[in-house]
Amino acid sequence: MSSVPAAIDPSRLPAHVAVIMDGNGRWAKQRGGLRIFGHQSAITAVRETVEAAAELGVAYLTLYAFSTENWGRPKHEVMALMQLLVHTIRQETPTLLKNGVRLQAIGETTQLPEACQRELAEAMELTAGGSRMTLVLALSYSGRWDLAQAARQLAREVAEGKRRPDDVTEEALAGCLATAGMPDPELLIRTSGEQRISNFLLWQLAYTELYITDLLWPDFRREHFLEAIQAYQRRERRFGKTSEQLTVS
Ligand code: IPE
Ligand code: IPE
Ligand code: MG
Repeated sequence: MSSVPAAIDPSRLPAHVAVIMDGNGRWAKQRGGLRIFGHQSAITAVRETVEAAAELGVAYLTLYAFSTENWGRPKHEVMALMQLLVHTIRQETPTLLKNGVRLQAIGETTQLPEACQRELAEAMELTAGGSRMTLVLALSYSGRWDLAQAARQLAREVAEGKRRPDDVTEEALAGCLATAGMPDPELLIRTSGEQRISNFLLWQLAYTELYITDLLWPDFRREHFLEAIQAYQRRERRFGKTSEQLTVS
């Protein structure tokens, strides 16, 4: 295991890093290959990012792997992505186990093909004891889906008399989101240069630091993750306050 670079302050690590893994298609196109070649070539980036985050001591790493909108892609690409998902989970689970990484998923996972659901459930059960880091896969996920399902849950509780309308607080809503119990991400990394959220964690990203790199996801490596962490540590997070207020201890 490699050590933490001196430039990174271990006392100021983000507890939760989220990643929009984008640019696989363009990466493949640049090489004259099919889009799926780009997806297949992205596994190294996933592996290195998971390992770097775990080594560093990041508690939660959330990877946007498949959005609600991605269902609208050509059928063969969707199928290939689902197959790749099954294959990758199967292949990587022993490493997750070895490294104490617990696997979780957020999203409308009941929409996934049965084989994916099974593989995912099995891997989550096997790695449930992992206490070093939680790896969250966002699958068939979108921020609006998450907010709508949380609202439905709260409405049901109110209708059943288990909750008063006045008890529908920010905390209550956050507690019904797919990410309940996790801290909000302090850092969001997006590859491929696109400057948008693409319906990712809309509620949870309220005060997240955004880090956008032009690198395409299949080229993303450990050193790029560490660069993102360093950039995050150089930011001043004001949460609406003034800079002067922050320096008064
Ligand atoms: C990200 O790469 C992977 C998924 C969204 C599943 P893309 O497939 O979006 O690649 P580009 O953005 O078209 O290059
Ligand atoms: C966002 O990438 C979704 C994932 C990385 C899974 P997209 O490629 O789907 O996003 P847009 O369409 O460019 O916004
Ligand atoms: Mg894309």
